[in-house]
Amino acid sequence: MKKTLIAILASLMLASPALKAVEIVPAPVSMKESKISVEMPKKVTVYAVDKDLKKLVKTWSSTLKKNYKAGVYDTPAGLKRIVSDVKLPAVKFTKNAKKAFVALEIDATLPEEAYTLEISAEGAKLCGGSVKGVWWGLQTLTQVLVQSAPSGKIGGLSIQDQPHFAYRGAMLDCCRHFYSVDEVKGWIDMIALHKLNTFHWHLTEDQGWRIEIKKYPLLTKVGSIRKRTVIGLYKTSKEFDENPYGGYYTQKQIKDIVAYAADRQITIIPEIEMPGHAVAALASYPYLGCTGGPYEVRQIWGISKETFCLGKESTYEFLQDVLDEVCELFPSEYIHIGGDEAPRDAWKACPVCQAKMKAEGLKNEAELQSYQLKRIEAYLNSKGRKVIGWDEILEGGVTPSATIMSWRGPKGGIAAAKQGNDVVMTPNSYFYLDYYQTKEREANGEPLAIGGHVNLRKCYAFDPYDQLTAEEGAHIKGVQANTWCEYICTMDHVEHMDLPRFAALSEVCWSESRGDYDEFVKRVQASLVPLYEYKGYVYAPYAFKGIE
Ligand code: ACM
Ligand code: ZN
Repeated sequence: MKKTLIAILASLMLASPALKAVEIVPAPVSMKESKISVEMPKKVTVYAVDKDLKKLVKTWSSTLKKNYKAGVYDTPAGLKRIVSDVKLPAVKFTKNAKKAFVALEIDATLPEEAYTLEISAEGAKLCGGSVKGVWWGLQTLTQVLVQSAPSGKIGGLSIQDQPHFAYRGAMLDCCRHFYSVDEVKGWIDMIALHKLNTFHWHLTEDQGWRIEIKKYPLLTKVGSIRKRTVIGLYKTSKEFDENPYGGYYTQKQIKDIVAYAADRQITIIPEIEMPGHAVAALASYPYLGCTGGPYEVRQIWGISKETFCLGKESTYEFLQDVLDEVCELFPSEYIHIGGDEAPRDAWKACPVCQAKMKAEGLKNEAELQSYQLKRIEAYLNSKGRKVIGWDEILEGGVTPSATIMSWRGPKGGIAAAKQGNDVVMTPNSYFYLDYYQTKEREANGEPLAIGGHVNLRKCYAFDPYDQLTAEEGAHIKGVQANTWCEYICTMDHVEHMDLPRFAALSEVCWSESRGDYDEFVKRVQASLVPLYEYKGYVYAPYAFKGIE
C-alpha cells in the first residue's frame, strides 16, 4: 500500500509540468513562487496614498474591463476572435491598508521603471521606482489575476523586475489605412500590456496626410483623401475600388490620444515624413514639389519619385511651420522626421535643387538630403527636441546627435552604433509585423500581406547587440516592431499581425536574456494567451500549433 502511494506520488511529480504555476511574459529579472495560496478576492481592494498612483489605479481598472462577452466571433478580416469566460473582480480603493488586497507604493531607491511585487498570505505589495514602475508591475499583476481566476487561488510570489531597454517601441501606420480614435486607444492598451513604452505614430504618407495642421488646412481637406485604392498586390494589380478613402485626426483628438497614452506611461513619437513619402502634402500644396504639380494623393503602394523640393526656401518654411504645431501637440523628446525611400530623380531634374546644391557646395543629391536633415535637426534642437530618422539618413552624412532607426535589417543600426550614433533597432527581417507569419501562408489561411516571412521564432531570435562591442552596444537604445498597413485595413487584422509577435518584442525589449524558444511559446500560452482571450484580441494561432 505504502509502496503504491509512493509510486503514485513519484509519478505525479514526474508528470508535473516544468512550468511554474504562474508565468509572466516578458520574463521578470527574478521571480520566486511560494507554496502559500490566497483566495481570489471578491474585489481587488487597492491602498494607495499618492494621488498619481490613485489616478494610475483608475486607468488600470479601466483596462481590466472585458471588451466582449464570452464566445467565438467572426471578424471583418475573416479572422476568429476568441473570448474566454474568465471574470475578474472589480477594482476598489480602500483607506485601510490592512484591508487592502494590494498596497501600492513608490520606492525612490528603485530605478524609475523597476518594480517589486510580493504576494503573501497577508496580500500583495507592489512598489515601483516611480509611477511608471508601478504601472509595469500592475501589468504583471494583471497576468497573475487572469491566470488565477479560473481556480480562484493566487499563489505566493516574489518578483523583482526592471526593463533592459529604455526604448520599447511599436509603430502603427495610420496613413495607408486609417484607425479611429477608439481603435488607436485600444491598440495603445494592447502595447501597454506588453510593457512597451513608446508608440511611434506614422501620420503622414503618399496615400494620406492624417494630422490636422491649422496653418495648412488643405493638408487634411485635400491630402487626407485618396480618390480610390488599389485592390490586391499593387505591383501586379490593375484593379481599384473606386471609393474615396480618407480620415484624419483633429488636434483635439491628438491631444486626447497623447494624454490617453501618457496615462498608460507611453510616449507617442509622431512621424512627419520628409523628404519622400510626401505626395499627399504635394497634392495639397503643389508648390512644395520640384515640378509644381499637379499631384494626386497616391492610390497605389510603393515608392513615389515625387518628393519635397529641397531647393526652395518655401519648403523649409512649410516644414518648420508644420513641426511647430507638431511640437505643440506632442511633448516627446524625439520627433521622427522619416528620411526613408526618397528617390533623387526630381532633385536631379530640378534647377532650384541644383542651384541650392551649388550654393551650399553639396556634391550630390544624397548630400542635399543630408543638408535638409541637418537644417530640420537644428530647428528641432532649437525647440529642445531631438530627431530620429530611418537608416537612409546615414547615406549623405548625419550629425552625431541624430538617432537612427534601423529598418533595412540591422546593418544600418550596426554601422550607426559603430560611428557613435544612437540607434533604435527595428529590422524588417525580425520586426516587420506586416510580413507573413508562416511559410505556407495560403494553406495556413493567412490573409494577404505585403510579403516576407517573420515567424515568432524569428522575432524571438533577434540579438540587438550582434557584431557590437560593449561600448558600441551602449548606443542601442531599444527595439521596435512596425505594423505597416498597406494590406491591413481593420483593427482585428492589426491584432492578428501583432499578436503574439508583440510577446517576442516585449521579451527582447524587457528581459536581460532570453531562453529556449519552445519554452517561450509555452510561457506565452500560459501567460499572455489567457489575457488575449480575456480581452478578446484576435491573436494569430500559428506559433501555438507549431506552424512556422
Ligand atoms: C520603411 O519601411 N520604409 C521605413
Ligand atoms: Zn526641387
